[in-house]
Amino acid sequence: MKLKFLYNALIIGSGIAILAGCGAGGNSTGYEYAPNMYHSFAYEPFTQMADEPNTINPNGMNMRLPAPNTIARGQMDYTNYSFTVSNASYEASASLKNPVASSPAVLAEAKTLYNINCTPCHGDAGKGDGSIVADGKFPPPPAYDSDRIKTTPDGKLFYSIRYGKNLMGAYGTVLSPKQIWTVIHYIRTVSGPYKAAALTASK
Ligand code: HEC
Repeated sequence: MKLKFLYNALIIGSGIAILAGCGAGGNSTGYEYAPNMYHSFAYEPFTQMADEPNTINPNGMNMRLPAPNTIARGQMDYTNYSFTVSNASYEASASLKNPVASSPAVLAEAKTLYNINCTPCHGDAGKGDGSIVADGKFPPPPAYDSDRIKTTPDGKLFYSIRYGKNLMGAYGTVLSPKQIWTVIHYIRTVSGPYKAAALTASK
């Protein structure tokens, strides 16, 4: 008799458990039987429970925003170039000098960076004839050996590459400042008056 009762309780119990588990599906993970096994009581910086806002930090977030002006390790390079994006900044950037000295290694790196990021629009030799402009839908960028680029100071080129210019996107999130200065060496190897100097420097 006792055994039968236990047997029934087991059947009913597992039936309830199966039904209770049916909530899963879509974005719902279903019923959690021991939530403490899934969710830490402590606020975990890399976990944010949507229905358990952090009551201590701003915006209910577990992770804190970095303190203003925080610089990630190894990124001191960035501090020198925190322009606000404006025409005035573009003009002001004219005085920046390329801190990366040219060398065969730098020019090789520059060519690689250029090939990866810039050729679709600017073309293999910087003529402004990349594949994207071939069908006439994208206006050609200026050729690097055009008077306009020849007479534009390195600093302005740096600004345009880092922050973008009209139809050209910003590369500040893709290339570090050092990489941008490096790729400028490639531009100068193909742009007129600087060409000879850049090639001599590379020897
Ligand atoms: C989506 C196409 C596209 C890509 C990719 C692109 N550019 Fe440009 N670039 C342009 C266009 C268009 C202009 C002309 C912008 C203007 O003056 O209106 C331009 C202009 C420039 C200028 C002249 C800026 C100035 O101050 O006048 C430089 C330098 C330049 N690009 C370098 C690069 C470098 C280096 C890369 C790769 C890291 C790159 N571009 C990638 C389209 C592109």
